[in-house]
Amino acid sequence: MLYFETERLIIRPWQMDDLDAFFQLEQNPNVGPNAGWKPILDRAESAEILKGFTEKPDELCAITLKSSGRAIGSLGLHTDDKRAPELQTVTRMLGYVLDEPYWGQGYMTEAARGALRFAFDRMALELVSVYHFPFNDRSRRVIEKCGFRCEGTLRRATLRFDGAVLDDVLYSMTRDEFYTLYGV
Ligand SMILES: CC(C)(COP(=O)(O)OP(=O)(O)OC[C@H]1O[C@@H](n2cnc3c(N)ncnc32)[C@H](O)[C@@H]1OP(=O)(O)O)[C@@H](O)C(=O)NCCC(=O)NCCS
Repeated sequence: MLYFETERLIIRPWQMDDLDAFFQLEQNPNVGPNAGWKPILDRAESAEILKGFTEKPDELCAITLKSSGRAIGSLGLHTDDKRAPELQTVTRMLGYVLDEPYWGQGYMTEAARGALRFAFDRMALELVSVYHFPFNDRSRRVIEKCGFRCEGTLRRATLRFDGAVLDDVLYSMTRDEFYTLYGV
């Protein structure tokens, strides 16, 4: 189960009583599409998706504020389909979205650094990857601030829900790189 705390955040599995916050996150056209998600405008459909998230506590979790308990975003450590299937027990791909009112306060960098610590200390992974679309400068900054190494651009790699064909900018961090940057 993905569970860890940072200075201001608790990252824990999604629960059905997060639905109000989850639906708000999913409706926003500035949030999901930047991560490849289709905006969801129907509450019942959002509830179905949230139910799926609650059933994957090892892969997907809510980013919640310690101060209020509110879920403000989603973080995942997913199977990385760009890596060999035989290596997927030791490799995960970081993904994240944060609801717009909470942008620009360092929350995602804090959550992503916590996720790296969890991934290497607790899950004993060998590599964490992360990708962003070329226009997503905010996500690029989060990735750079965490210390990921850029691998390059996989061109025309993603067919998004709206038909857009997009490049993926690829990054990763190995276990050794993590401990060199962050300490044991
Ligand atoms: C990307 C996202 C998670 C960033 O979350 P966040 O909590 O705002 O991130 P942080 O505050 O930790 O860092 C954001 C950085 O982007 C910078 N930034 C903000 N607006 C920017 C812009 N228009 N262009 C470039 N950089 C920008 C901030 O200044 C900050 O960098 P700094 O600390 O060097 O100043 C959030 O914007 C989001 O959820 N976006 C929609 C979904 C998404 O893109 N998910 C990622 C898919 S790969």
